[in-house]
Amino acid sequence: MAEPDTLTEAEAAAELERLAGAIAHHNRLYHDQDAPEISDADYDALMRRNAALEARFPALARDDSPSRKVGATPSGPLAKVRHARPMLSLDNAFSDEEVVEFLQRVRRFLRLDADESVVLTAEPKIDGLSCSLRYEQRHLVQAATRGDGTVGEDVTPNIAFVTGVPQSLPDDAPDIFEVRGEVYMAKDDFAALNQRMIDAAREAGDESKARQFANPRNAAAGSLRQKDATVTASRPLRFIYHGWGEASALPGETQTAVMDALDAWGFAGTPLRVRCADVTGALERYRLIEAQRADLEYDIDGVVYKVDRLDWQERLGQVGRAPRWALAHKFPAQQAQTTLRAIDIQVGRTGKLTPVARLEPVTVGGVVVTNATLHNADEIERLGVRPGDRVLLQRAGDVIPQIVDNLTRDEPREPWTFPTLCPVCASTVEREEGEVDYRCTGGLICQAQRVERLIHFCSRGALDIRGLGFQQIEDFFNDGLIHSPADIFRLTEEQLLPRKKKGDVWAANLLQAIAEKRTPDPVRFLFGLGIRHVGAITARDLLKAFGTVERIAEVATAAQDDPQARAEIEAVSGVGPVVAEALIDFFAEPHNQEAWADLLSEVHPLPFVSDVRQSEISGKTVVFTGALETMSRDEAKAQAEQLGARVSGSVSAKTDLVVAGPGAGSKEKKAKELGVRVIDEAAWAQIVAGAA
Ligand code: IVH
Repeated sequence: MAEPDTLTEAEAAAELERLAGAIAHHNRLYHDQDAPEISDADYDALMRRNAALEARFPALARDDSPSRKVGATPSGPLAKVRHARPMLSLDNAFSDEEVVEFLQRVRRFLRLDADESVVLTAEPKIDGLSCSLRYEQRHLVQAATRGDGTVGEDVTPNIAFVTGVPQSLPDDAPDIFEVRGEVYMAKDDFAALNQRMIDAAREAGDESKARQFANPRNAAAGSLRQKDATVTASRPLRFIYHGWGEASALPGETQTAVMDALDAWGFAGTPLRVRCADVTGALERYRLIEAQRADLEYDIDGVVYKVDRLDWQERLGQVGRAPRWALAHKFPAQQAQTTLRAIDIQVGRTGKLTPVARLEPVTVGGVVVTNATLHNADEIERLGVRPGDRVLLQRAGDVIPQIVDNLTRDEPREPWTFPTLCPVCASTVEREEGEVDYRCTGGLICQAQRVERLIHFCSRGALDIRGLGFQQIEDFFNDGLIHSPADIFRLTEEQLLPRKKKGDVWAANLLQAIAEKRTPDPVRFLFGLGIRHVGAITARDLLKAFGTVERIAEVATAAQDDPQARAEIEAVSGVGPVVAEALIDFFAEPHNQEAWADLLSEVHPLPFVSDVRQSEISGKTVVFTGALETMSRDEAKAQAEQLGARVSGSVSAKTDLVVAGPGAGSKEKKAKELGVRVIDEAAWAQIVAGAA
């Protein structure tokens, strides 16, 4: 594949679109179906490529970019739990250089002197399911999965069957303390469990029906997230801590001290955790852990470094969904050889055709792989692959396996050619000037596109209707049960019952899951409509400005012939002419108008509620000038954004507040001339401290 820095802007844009689609697809398989097609490493490779391209072309970063997305709110049969403090994820590094850069970023952010050292902790990154255990008055009161980081699933009854979770804490523990860590299944236990499932199926007379888990991580997730805790009880799960959430007091001032206390309280940690005085020590530890990887009782996919000092962690805070004070240094991808059986073409929501490699099943890094993405026609040409070829397959982390090389390159052969007709609707296939992808021109005639839109509407990032995965939607569509999103809300028990053995439980659960989404979150709803360029972030920006989806539709419809309405949309922060145009086009299309009206007769999206911390500067524009003494510019900016303020580089009549440090010059002067309020850093700190 071309290195990110050799791509043109148009190629990069096309590739970012492809990556967003591919990653969403794999998220669906991984989270909704516990059935990933690709390895963790390959998933990471996709995320990474996405990040690399965005770093090179920041303006191309998509609204639906996976780098901006937090998972999705779970909506299964388990009750929901709002985390007292969000459960974060981690940024990844794949090379020593990136670890060095991470440390440089930390130093810059904290404005450390050259002689001040940053001590790190290093420990394995365990491939399990993260879980938060809440203790009140030293008694375990709740266990919850991570979910989307804000809202998780209640697994309190289940956690009793997980080894390594004490029911109570010693007397010296604080009144409130949340221990966070990974629930995992040991490799041996996983193999034994799969064997047990095969044996059970054999006894029942049909070995081919044996359900097996693809890997220990899925087995752990599937075993913990059970409505019936007796199922969990029959599965060998364990817990290893790696951090904490809300705490009324902390038993130390460093990561190490708190973790040592957790050891003393009876939690299992990893014996491989150490403090490292510098980056060299951290990297040495990485290599040591990597060398021991195969011998560990559990799967790991990298090493996590954390800044040891908690006051520094506090200041570093987080950016997006990951803390600035921690980093996951991933292990490299694993490879295997296999035979390419066939190249199939998949049709996406926007008509994009993606070639998929069907492979002779092969185990790569512990997971059986049967499919790999081939991305696009250029990639097939670059690899020169055709069905029957031996190929080198690579999977890294949780990503789609990639074919990285063709091992059959002996004689010159006829190349494989891309189809000229859509394999689903037989419409012509087009490739626009400068585009990488071929597209089906069938639009809504193409069943694949219609189905994909429905799948998107129900997907985790959108309405998140549990039980309505792609297979189910495809079946319902093919059987004429649903044609448009509104039809989903008109499904009845009579329609569903005959479709499954034990159909009553299934039908009731599904109808319940659908009913719960009749008053959906407006951001998810708007995003779920699949309007071009309106990803989750833009959906949020639009709602922030207009308040309700109905109002957005109203303004977009008016904007067809009212320039003022158009200007109103374009003026929304984060929205420009391209998004405005797409939005207006969407509501101008008769089919969409019909589907929209129909849909709103079934569902009532909630009004938008903002989640920034409220303070006197929320919604205001702030300028920092002069030297800041207790924090870096980045930290100041992060603080302002957390309070819902915008940070600008220059003072104008639109500026609401100027924070001026020593040496502030013309900007402070200008602010005074304009009558803009000017405060010093100490007063700023008070505003931050006073925010809700
Ligand atoms: S630190 C705020 N340490 O990896 C930092 N996480 O990819 C978040 N994980 O959600 C946790 N081993 O579930 C940390 N030693 C470790 C870990 C670890 C596994 C998981 C964790 C997190 C995910 C991020």
